[in-house]
Amino acid sequence: MNITVKPAGGLKGTITVPGDKSISHRSVMLGSISNGTTHVSGFLTGADCLATVDCFRKMGIEIDINGTNVTIHGKGMHGLKKPDAQLDCKNSGTTIRLISGILAAQPFDCSITGDSSIQKRPMDRIRNPLALMGAKIYGNENKKLYAPLKIIGAKLTGIHYTLPVASAQVKSAVILAGLYADGETVVTEPEPTRDHTEIMLNYLGADISHNGNDIICRPVKELYAKDIYVPSDISSAAYFMAAAAITDNSDITITNVGVNPTRTGIIDVLNVMGADIKIINQKNVCGEKVADIRVKSSKLKGIEIGGAIIPRLIDEIPIIAVCACFADGTTVIKDAQELKVKETNRIKTVVEELKKMDADITETDDGMVINGTGMLKGAEINSHDDHRIAMSMAVAALKAKDSTTIKNAESVDISFPGFFDFLEKLK
Ligand code: S3P
Repeated sequence: MNITVKPAGGLKGTITVPGDKSISHRSVMLGSISNGTTHVSGFLTGADCLATVDCFRKMGIEIDINGTNVTIHGKGMHGLKKPDAQLDCKNSGTTIRLISGILAAQPFDCSITGDSSIQKRPMDRIRNPLALMGAKIYGNENKKLYAPLKIIGAKLTGIHYTLPVASAQVKSAVILAGLYADGETVVTEPEPTRDHTEIMLNYLGADISHNGNDIICRPVKELYAKDIYVPSDISSAAYFMAAAAITDNSDITITNVGVNPTRTGIIDVLNVMGADIKIINQKNVCGEKVADIRVKSSKLKGIEIGGAIIPRLIDEIPIIAVCACFADGTTVIKDAQELKVKETNRIKTVVEELKKMDADITETDDGMVINGTGMLKGAEINSHDDHRIAMSMAVAALKAKDSTTIKNAESVDISFPGFFDFLEKLK
């Protein structure tokens, strides 16, 4: 599907964007291995989270979906059954990486795969620590490990693992395996990454603690089902925060957004760039911080972004690059090599597509350098089937000189079904 986006400004209104992708995935996984029924509200019915639902249904878990309300009939820590068919995580890295931590400890074997993008993403990063715990995970070995994966359930033992890269997916896979292991599991992070797994596990009765950069996980006998409220996804809100900041005469409010400090790098960066952002009505729901975010048009300036903030905004770098095109001066994004192993190589795809719109942007080995020119032209854009590229380029299109067409724009459904309707609503 091709979508044409015309230049626009003066975005006004209040919106509630769909639920958080990371928390939605975790609600299904942890609900499935909890004792009792979990009612989830605000669930993200994007393709990635539906892939997680499908995997657990194949393992015998009854899951009812009614709009954004999801009911999971959990069967406890040891209630999953061997799937009759291969599990398919489609485009979802979070599904395949987190689920592997659970599958490694089951009393059955199974196989799991995904689409062509997933089959190119490294899985040795989860296999290595899980193998140290005793897991048996095999796949396509070609320097690194790739899906399809064959996972043979095994008895696991707790380990102390230092993550070579800051990754919440890897940390979570090890913690989930640690729930089933003999003894304590400790994961040391180079930098803090999103901690939704830890928060939700503690909410459901597990014992996960922190000591500096160490996360300490003790095995559990059972998890107790509780209602889960999923806040709106700050990664989805980010497109509208950016759109309001860069277009003239805009003033928008995005309600009930998850503002967990491990996810708010985008707010910090926009603040330093000079954006007019206010965080209001803060509250705490199911252990997660939630707030409304109000953003008005502002004059932005270029900044340097790198180091410990990168994991706190890793998914927002494409939209930050768009903002940088309209900022005064130069923006340097560094220490972001991880972008190369996302749904696409996002250093390459962002640079390639923004160049089509005449951006002054250069690819570097660990990020990009953008000279803000304050001007982009309309172009024909390839989403590369990457949801975050499609949405970032749609926001760039709002501020371009003429119309922009985004090819394969349906990829937005991965994390943000209805994205283009939201954009229209604010115009
Ligand atoms: C996620 C972690 C991040 C992020 C992804 C979701 C999660 O990936 O990019 O969109 O839900 O744990 P990495 O752990 O690979 O950085």
